[in-house]
Amino acid sequence: MKASLKEELIKARNGKYAVPAFNFDNLEMMKGIIEAAEEEKSPVILMVTESAAKYMGLDYVFSFAMTATQNASVPVVLHWDHGFDIELIKRAVDAGFSSVMLDSSLKPLDENVKETLEIVKYARSKGVDVESEIGHVGGKEDDRNSASNGYTDINEALEFEKQTQIDALAIAIGTSHGLFKGEIKLQFDLLKELNEKIKTPLVLHGSSQVPLEDLQKAISLGITKINIGTDLKIACAQGIKDWFEKNPGGYDARKYGRTGVDFVKVEAKKKIQAFGSNNRA
Ligand code: 13P
Repeated sequence: MKASLKEELIKARNGKYAVPAFNFDNLEMMKGIIEAAEEEKSPVILMVTESAAKYMGLDYVFSFAMTATQNASVPVVLHWDHGFDIELIKRAVDAGFSSVMLDSSLKPLDENVKETLEIVKYARSKGVDVESEIGHVGGKEDDRNSASNGYTDINEALEFEKQTQIDALAIAIGTSHGLFKGEIKLQFDLLKELNEKIKTPLVLHGSSQVPLEDLQKAISLGITKINIGTDLKIACAQGIKDWFEKNPGGYDARKYGRTGVDFVKVEAKKKIQAFGSNNRA
């Protein structure tokens, strides 16, 4: 069933767990995510990025993600992740997404505020929630590479929250997107202070490859939405590779695809259990 980002994140904050937010790039990943959430009775955030939509086709992705969202037995937030293109974000709003993210985090604060306000105005008029980012989580983000990582500045975050009134705030506390992260050292003191001062539910991006204990500590300090992309891509690829190793002459997409779904499901369940969102649907 379709759910609201804001409501699910507020429930998570009160219940001291985080809602897993998973990216998908194909039907196999999407099925693995939904099956994991249903078996674990967990709310889930199903995320589409611009490049994933480009690969699958915007109309295809809108229609099959919407079908999965409506048919699921658990709350599903259908979320447009890392929107850089304002017109595409508006199309996601029009298509019936639950929430959208604008990522203008590399721009100066006043421009980030201005663009976020444009999206807030458009999305709110259609009952759609908005996430935005302050500070910058770098790494391999969607199809873009960004070397820089800028921790969130508390005063900027407060000003941003006051001016934009967004529904979820992505912060930078030491994670980065993608596979190669170097040493991962989360700034828990910064997170604690942000959580004390910011009322908006807080979001952690770039959470693949981060030890689960670190993510659990981040949840205890106020993170309510945890974004996972790369770990599910790896799981899907591994499942398909394993199938071909066992079936060297194989060719049936339904069979190797199913192994991809199963591997994604196992990985998604691990995260759901670690984030404590199981049995919260
Ligand atoms: P990872 O690929 O590092 O998990 O990051 C995903 C993400 O933050 C999507 O917004």
